[in-house]
Amino acid sequence: MRDIEERMSDKCRAQQEEALACLALQGPAGEQDSGDGERDFERAVSGWGVNGRHAKPRAADGGERQRHPLRESELADQSLGLGRVEAAESPYKHRERRAGQRGNRDQRADGLRHESNYTCPAMRAVDVIRRKRDGGELGDDEIRAFVAGATDGSWPDYQISALLMAIVWRGLSLDETVVLTNAMVRSGERLDLSEFGGVPVDKHSTGGVGDKLSLVIAPLVAACGGLVPMMSGRGLGHTGGTLDKLESIPGFRTSLTLPEMRAALRKTRCVLIGQTAEIAPADRRLYSLRDVTGTVESIPLICGSILSKKIAEGIGGLVMDVKVGAGAFMKTADDARRLAAWLVEIAERNGVRTEAILTTMDTPLGRAVGNANEVIESFETLKGKGPKDIEELSLLFAARMLILAGLETTENAAVSRVRAALTSGKGVEAFAAIIEQQGGDPKVLDDYSRMPKASAKDQLTATTDGTVIAMQAELVGRAAVALGAGRDRADAGVDSAAGIDILAPVGATVRRGDPVFALSCSDAARLPAAKALLTQALQIGERAAASSSVSPVIDRITGRGAATPN
Ligand code: URA
Repeated sequence: MRDIEERMSDKCRAQQEEALACLALQGPAGEQDSGDGERDFERAVSGWGVNGRHAKPRAADGGERQRHPLRESELADQSLGLGRVEAAESPYKHRERRAGQRGNRDQRADGLRHESNYTCPAMRAVDVIRRKRDGGELGDDEIRAFVAGATDGSWPDYQISALLMAIVWRGLSLDETVVLTNAMVRSGERLDLSEFGGVPVDKHSTGGVGDKLSLVIAPLVAACGGLVPMMSGRGLGHTGGTLDKLESIPGFRTSLTLPEMRAALRKTRCVLIGQTAEIAPADRRLYSLRDVTGTVESIPLICGSILSKKIAEGIGGLVMDVKVGAGAFMKTADDARRLAAWLVEIAERNGVRTEAILTTMDTPLGRAVGNANEVIESFETLKGKGPKDIEELSLLFAARMLILAGLETTENAAVSRVRAALTSGKGVEAFAAIIEQQGGDPKVLDDYSRMPKASAKDQLTATTDGTVIAMQAELVGRAAVALGAGRDRADAGVDSAAGIDILAPVGATVRRGDPVFALSCSDAARLPAAKALLTQALQIGERAAASSSVSPVIDRITGRGAATPN
């Protein structure tokens, strides 16, 4: 058996080598322009989960890069095209062009563009798995067959999981990732929001602890005239989820139908909802398997997962918050830059102007980690009384969204506009309107006693005098999950009242016995495990902690079409 497999894989390798030799004979394609996107791309071609062999290698002499000739000429042929998948310079122009060009797509009366499934030649899943297992590059049809099989259920969990693990180990090239992302977008619908006018914009985070930025940013951008069709996710691992937080607002509905979503956008210019059934259904299946098979940490798979949803929701501009640090999925700045460069490149090839901002995630953002308490902190920020780090990042992200929406041209002007929405109370008004439109109780904004209340409480106190030097975000996130704010199993519910309030943040001077964390939840039996994790997370010492005035922004990656700061 092993003998046969070895011979098969030798044959496969020989075929690949022959194919590569043919490609080499055709010579390299011309060099592309070297705008920002190219530079960012260059930084991204090697490393974490990326199939370097096919990803624009740098020549040994450090000179001109050679490009994968066939794939790249296919791209060049279709100007911004994506192999056999079309791309666009604006979210809507390409759809107009395509309407009538392709027989298998039709514009539906409900404004959704329905794209029928690919017609893939019969293909055995095991052959696709073997090719990737052996380090080969998958063909477009193989990737599409995989996504179609995940969507219609014809690929069983074990074969999907095997291919996911092969991808984690062997990587995907940028071209493969582009095809994967597009196939995932086309597993469902791509919304057309042109009826609302303007460029719809969104912001997405790769996941952090205490990260309630979306709750502040979305109302602020709507208050400034932006259109924000924000589809968010649930808590994942130790990181919190925007939907779980929103659902702590009494009555708030995060699952709207598409007609409800449109009605809400018409009224408030912003929706805060979960992925609808129509949006990237392939991701739902793939994600649930990745979560339980140790296959989340892969740049190509993260790109496909995040971008398929963002592209399908019909936006024209996207600001990505790529978290870096001990509390993030990307532990190092280099990995985060690689992920950011790919996210920008792939989204831009799909006509979505995209920027990525790398921000630190070593300690939790703000002072609240949980659900209801994070919502309250977002209200306080909108009232101008929030923690400095939350306010600073909210102003920046909202400003970049206004620029991508074409509502401002410089960052200074955009920040001033967002700040005015904050100080005038227009951001709070926008949030009240969104809450009401989505079935929630807007009175919570003025009366926090209407939010879920915890029945079990405790505190963790300092065991020594000194300065709070570190508060490890991942452990604080795990403590919040232990309290019930997040889930251990995908099908578990969350406790809206569960959370941790940071009473003495990094940099604070404490005396022995001073409270550092306040813990809340609905089940007292959960408190000891959470306290143990917080004890590990906390470091109190004598030396001064790093200044809290250091900006959480560590880098920015912009696409070719994106505006640069100022
Ligand atoms: N968020 C997503 O939606 N998908 C990923 O793979 C990681 C974070």
